[in-house]
Amino acid sequence: MGKILKVARMGHPILTQRAKEVDDPTSLHIKGVVDDMLATMENLGNNIGLAAPQVHIPLRILLFKIPRKTNNPRYHLTPEHDPDGVPLTILINPKLTLIGDETIETWESCLSVPGLMAKVSRHQSVHYSGTTPEGKQIERTAHGFHARAMQHEYDHLEGILFPMRMTDPSQFGFQDEILKHAVGQ
Ligand code: NI
Repeated sequence: MGKILKVARMGHPILTQRAKEVDDPTSLHIKGVVDDMLATMENLGNNIGLAAPQVHIPLRILLFKIPRKTNNPRYHLTPEHDPDGVPLTILINPKLTLIGDETIETWESCLSVPGLMAKVSRHQSVHYSGTTPEGKQIERTAHGFHARAMQHEYDHLEGILFPMRMTDPSQFGFQDEILKHAVGQ
């Protein structure tokens, strides 16, 4: 069982640095880091993903899990939500390629930017790859919410937080206000 780690919040410099490549994705040390990230995610509940810099570890590790259905109203605002979900995906040293020109703009939130949301434009389709802690290679093409989650988590490894992706600062605010007023959008 992993340890619950403290989540870095916007303003902490670790969140705006480029994370470093992992030398040995299958090492015990990395397995421990991943276990701690999973325990931290589970403890916080109802979240889609986490990147290592968010728990003060400047390494290129990210994970996400998209449930088939979520009761978190934050995600009801994302029209491209993938109804099938995506199983827990752990990627070390991931690579990301954006596909085509099609983008979708919708609400995003982040554990490191608690309480806030902004509309962010993301590519509809991406291709990504990476190594698992077991040393397996994963390679996938993703669309919609799956692609958005990957782009958001990958951004953390590049030192980018979602408010830095905003194109319209008027579409930025407190989650509870936005959810109260955006119902049906
Ligand atoms: Ni985030």
